[in-house]
Amino acid sequence: MASRVLVLNGPNLNMLGTRQPEIYGRETLAEIEALCREKARALGAELDFRQSNHEGVLIDWIHKARGTQDAVVINPAGLTHTSLSLMDALIACELPVIELHLSNPHRREPFRHDSYVSRVAAGTICGFGSHGYTLAIEAAVRLTERG
Ligand code: DQA
Repeated sequence: MASRVLVLNGPNLNMLGTRQPEIYGRETLAEIEALCREKARALGAELDFRQSNHEGVLIDWIHKARGTQDAVVINPAGLTHTSLSLMDALIACELPVIELHLSNPHRREPFRHDSYVSRVAAGTICGFGSHGYTLAIEAAVRLTERG
């Protein structure tokens, strides 16, 4: 059976393409979604790709993933460094979590060095720009292959 992968994007990632391109690259989120769809198709996985600027909406989607998805790939954006509630939701969904960042937060300001999500993630991919999304989908499928 195909692995079902939910890819979530947090606040401000709808601004990709124009938002600090020197840090986040020039690709839009729609272009990144297209890359993800291509990767999922190649791996025979099912992909649900979403973005919200609202913490509660992301949490609701994570709750709904429990029992309906096989893995969660999440770029939590700024919520990475602040949201205990997002971390709790990721624990509650009882799915493997892959944390993802376009930039490498460890090379940036000290307030980006801590991640609540890292505490519950199977692993983290960061610093590879949009390519990180395809790496994360590959990791998610490897973790969840339902043979
Ligand atoms: C980010 C890194 C975060 O520190 C930042 O707040 C973001 C994007 C990344 O993809 O590099 O919004 O998650």
